[in-house]
Amino acid sequence: MADEKTKGSGTATVDSPGENTVQLTFLPEGKTVEFERDKLPYKDHGKEQSILDVALNYGVRLDHACGGNCACTTCHVWVKEGAENLSEMDDDEADRLDMAADLQLNSRLGCQAVITKPGKVVVEIPSWNRNYVSEEH
Ligand code: FES
Repeated sequence: MADEKTKGSGTATVDSPGENTVQLTFLPEGKTVEFERDKLPYKDHGKEQSILDVALNYGVRLDHACGGNCACTTCHVWVKEGAENLSEMDDDEADRLDMAADLQLNSRLGCQAVITKPGKVVVEIPSWNRNYVSEEH
């Protein structure tokens, strides 16, 4: 009965994320980044506010061999949670993904999947991609 979070005193300061906050988690590293939607600077690769753009903003290694132009599959991720907070897949992305290794129903291209709503999103970077990107230049 007494588990309600708001207490009716008029000064409820429940520590919840802002209503425009996005929480994006990259697996298997388990790195979670939190930011205000549409407030990140564009990093010049892929669509603005895409998963790749967020990764570049926070130093998460997500390969992007074609520079985010929907012309390869190296930015392939699996969306584990929050697919409803992402842009819909267009035909170009779907066609490109058809060529991806380990294609799953929740596959997206990180450079094309744009965060369109606040909330939680969890993506996993496939292991073959992680091995590939571990080669530093
Ligand atoms: S970086 Fe090439 S398709 Fe996303």
